[in-house]
Amino acid sequence: MASSFSLTRLSLLVVMLCAMGGCVRLTMAWADLTPDRPGASPAALGPFDGKAAVNNPEEWHERSVLLRDAFQQHVYGVLPERSGARVINRRLVTDSLLDGRAQLEEITLEVWTSFDSDSENTATFNLLLATPVDVDRPVPLILMETFCPNHNTIPHQGVTRPQGGGGCDGEGVMADVMTYVFGRYIATPPLAEIVDRGFALATLYPSEFVPDQADAGLVALSRLSQGHTDDMTRWGSIAAWGWGFSRVLDVLVSEPSVDAERVVLYGHSRYGKAALFAAAYDERFAGVIAHQSGTGGAALNRHKQGESVGDITRAYPHWFSRQYAAYAGREEGLPVDQHHLLALIAPRPVLLGNARRDVWSDPEGTFVAAQGAHPVYDLLGDGGLQQTDLKSFIPDATLSFHLRPGTHGVTEEDWPAFFEFLEAHFSE
Ligand code: GCU
Repeated sequence: MASSFSLTRLSLLVVMLCAMGGCVRLTMAWADLTPDRPGASPAALGPFDGKAAVNNPEEWHERSVLLRDAFQQHVYGVLPERSGARVINRRLVTDSLLDGRAQLEEITLEVWTSFDSDSENTATFNLLLATPVDVDRPVPLILMETFCPNHNTIPHQGVTRPQGGGGCDGEGVMADVMTYVFGRYIATPPLAEIVDRGFALATLYPSEFVPDQADAGLVALSRLSQGHTDDMTRWGSIAAWGWGFSRVLDVLVSEPSVDAERVVLYGHSRYGKAALFAAAYDERFAGVIAHQSGTGGAALNRHKQGESVGDITRAYPHWFSRQYAAYAGREEGLPVDQHHLLALIAPRPVLLGNARRDVWSDPEGTFVAAQGAHPVYDLLGDGGLQQTDLKSFIPDATLSFHLRPGTHGVTEEDWPAFFEFLEAHFSE
């Protein structure tokens, strides 16, 4: 593809990158393969908030309640006190997807939040569910959120398109540019391989309920958090999108074709952050693939390379609570760091995808976070991080770290690694 790129296309690419308002920052730096940064702190099992160090799974359980609360108070904002979801419409889009190997259904969900006894706030969005046919038992499911509407993730003419198309419908040169910069699978995962390996795929476009734009996003977040009065801890979209994953699972538990105990979240970048958040707060999820989740995802806030708390909260004021923004330049003051978020998912399998030149997402800080979460995996089972450097990918480890060459995006090298991890942990 690179050779067919004309100068005009490359110029357009540069203009697009600038115009995308920080959607990605390319950097010529390389992540070190054996990081020598200070370890994650405070230690995951060490004293916390006046409480003594954790020594056993029961004490970890008590600790995890405090950590979830701390992440809401200091980073992501507060989740609704009560919430739920129901199916308001369901239709078969086609029963002959992939030459009849799969069927495609569109499920419309109404979700609701309640932050106090007086208010109930609702929103709706569509879930697209592709399931293999001719299988006689429930299958594991990959549940994903992306930048693009559902009809881009699983292309089919019968899929409902959001008003305005969602900005991913560029054809010709625009589509080429997006694929060239961000990789072949940035918008559309390899559905045929997913289905042929015995997995179902479901996708939602979270901008349908909280738009990924500062102004419109903040309006939706305020509307959905009516009844929550502390402006500093109003939830951000990472928490709301993560919460959206859980509402999907509320309805998928009664889905006969899907094994609700093997629902694995997948998200790239901002949706990798949301996927980690969701799994940390909802133990029903079986595992996570968080690809290049970076700041506010798997990368530590302390001793950071790449995007800082100040960078992310200025560029994306709707992603986190205002309280997180207040830690810009004084990250040492945060009572938690992102290794705690990974530890909250233990002992469930997590794959952290990275690229060597995606220093903006900080692969080293992500690796040190995995090292920091490892003692909790160790306490709860015998798994955790098995590798001692960034390169020696071990897909059957419960805390697995993958690094490929290149930059930010989802490329042809990423999905084979995802499949190795998925098959090691979730296939029968
Ligand atoms: C920006 C942002 C990152 C984010 C990324 C993405 O680069 O700074 O934090 O992960 O967009 O979602 O692609």
